[in-house]
Amino acid sequence: MRAAFLIAACLVAGAGSAADAPPEGKRIVDRVCSACHANDLSEAPQLKQPAMWTARLAKGRDALVHSALNGFTGPTGEEMPPRGGRPELTDAEVMAAVDYIISTVNPERNTP
Ligand code: HEC
Repeated sequence: MRAAFLIAACLVAGAGSAADAPPEGKRIVDRVCSACHANDLSEAPQLKQPAMWTARLAKGRDALVHSALNGFTGPTGEEMPPRGGRPELTDAEVMAAVDYIISTVNPERNTP
């Protein structure tokens, strides 16, 4: 009885966080996007430096999703490859990764 309750509680907790920032978003960011976005040697905006994202967040989620799906070249010629260079990623996976990035770097959502 008690075990069943605990399992149910875990499922509910899991569903809640999935709506916020899907766990698969983090998985994809860790596996694919962090090669550039968590790499000091890369010119890509870094996940640990929210200030690098301020102007990008201002463009809105749709614009960021569009850049991630189709690629984006910034004013300095740095390139974000379409789907992070992984054509096998689905639209939903790329969106989940963008949502995870937004939830990580958005200062408004990080302050309680
Ligand atoms: C090969 C390196 C590389 C990989 C891998 C990569 N990115 Fe990027 N990304 C960049 C660079 C460089 C920029 C900045 C381009 C510029 O100068 O504006 C960027 C910018 C972005 C932006 C901002 C675009 C905008 O409109 O300002 C988003 C969102 C983004 N990446 C999402 C992702 C996601 C999601 C993944 C994983 C699926 C990913 N990136 C993987 C290099 C990469």
